[in-house]
Amino acid sequence: MIAVLVLSLLGATLALPPKEGGNHWAVVVAGSNGWGNYRHQADACHAYQILHRNGIPDDRIIVMMYDDIANNEENPTPGIIINRPNGTDVYKGVPKDYNSEDVTPENFLNVLKGNKEAMAGIGSGKVLQSGPEDNVFVFFTDHGAPNLIAFPESELHAKDMMEALQYMHDNNMYKNLVFYLEACESGSMFHRHLPDNINIFATSAANPHESSYACYFDEKRETYLGDLYSVRWMEDSDTEDLKKETLQRQFKIVRRETNTSHVREYGDMSMKNMTLLQFQGGRFDVPLTPLPPYPQVPFDAVPAPEVKLAVLQHRMKVARTDEERSEVTDLIKQEFADRQMIRDTVETIVRKVAQDQDQADRVLRDRTRDLTAHDCYKRAVSHFRRRCFLFNVYEHALRHLYTLVNLCEEGVSVDRITGVMDQVCIARN
Ligand SMILES: *[C@@H]1O[C@H](CO)[C@@H](O)[C@H](O)[C@H]1NC(C)=O
Ligand SMILES: *[C@@H]1O[C@H](CO)[C@@H](O)[C@H](O)[C@H]1NC(C)=O
Ligand SMILES: *[C@@H]1O[C@H](CO)[C@@H](O)[C@H](O)[C@H]1NC(C)=O
Repeated sequence: MIAVLVLSLLGATLALPPKEGGNHWAVVVAGSNGWGNYRHQADACHAYQILHRNGIPDDRIIVMMYDDIANNEENPTPGIIINRPNGTDVYKGVPKDYNSEDVTPENFLNVLKGNKEAMAGIGSGKVLQSGPEDNVFVFFTDHGAPNLIAFPESELHAKDMMEALQYMHDNNMYKNLVFYLEACESGSMFHRHLPDNINIFATSAANPHESSYACYFDEKRETYLGDLYSVRWMEDSDTEDLKKETLQRQFKIVRRETNTSHVREYGDMSMKNMTLLQFQGGRFDVPLTPLPPYPQVPFDAVPAPEVKLAVLQHRMKVARTDEERSEVTDLIKQEFADRQMIRDTVETIVRKVAQDQDQADRVLRDRTRDLTAHDCYKRAVSHFRRRCFLFNVYEHALRHLYTLVNLCEEGVSVDRITGVMDQVCIARN
């Protein structure tokens, strides 16, 4: 009887949030630009609203986004961004820390590492200045590919991101850090990269080998308003009591509701009983105001790589004149032609690089290899982007980067890979 009582008292104490002396900091990044990628910046703005509403002051939230959506000429509601059908404005009040050409992997890493000197004169110059008692929350949303996430003009590789996180750990820049990541193949940024002993807990929208999904197509705006994993965690945070809900519970809810891809968790699992408030909110003395439950919206998720086509198909359905229909038909044909050209170019490169047909077939087929040859892959990807296909123009090129993982893992020299790219792609251009 007494034992039971003691145990339940103990249980009750353990369930209480620990006393916290530290501050909470957050970094929110949308890595894309362009109206067709509306949803990434909408996700980022929405994340800011959650952190702001729950008491993290603006000087401890750093937002990095291109900022070409609110006042885009295609925006029928100028100055307003929404993240769900009929949703409220999420753009209002979002800090303009790093916009347009300041949205780069280098700046993101310097912000994380608290490198004030490197960021002097760039954007707001705000960087993480967190210390050993502080918690840090990071949310990134954009396109991705094996072992990398995209930025408007370049990409961030898993190894470089991990080095920055390790640096933060070694320099006492956080007590606990939570990283939520929305991107295709996002699991590959953490899988076999993120250790379980540096007080970081991460979740990803997809496993290392699959797409993540866009959702909430908006007829008036002719674009998707959100990404499934992102809106699932944010709508959950909006409507739950962050003082009670744990990371574990949010992960389970988001994993269940993001049923189109495999939401994954990485890193330090002992952090999972911490509450959301310890990352997505301010101090414990701030009163919280969860929003009322959201109305249901019909399920319409599409794989991120199919978004462009899905939007065109919708435009076709609502086209009123023959002229409009023929214009959209041409755009659809162009999209298929682009995809075919990318596929053919990659196949030509792989067949020229490979020693024999078996190797080429293997490289073109296998999508599940883990990356260890980081330097080879990084150079090959950047060469492929510059010489063959800019990823922000030819988004589907990202879907073929697994072949570069494979070539590098087969031990092919990177000079050979880039040499062949020069021959094949310069001829094409
Ligand atoms: C959005 O609001 C309009 C007008 O109030 C309504 O007709 C429509 O069904 C709503 N859409 C959703 C997805 O709730
Ligand atoms: C995912 O869940 C929705 C309902 O929320 C359902 O309409 C859809 O068919 C499910 N998709 C898959 C792939 O299970
Ligand atoms: C979470 O669990 C760990 C052990 O796994 C424990 O040390 C810690 O006190 C728990 N924290 C909370 C907030 O319950």
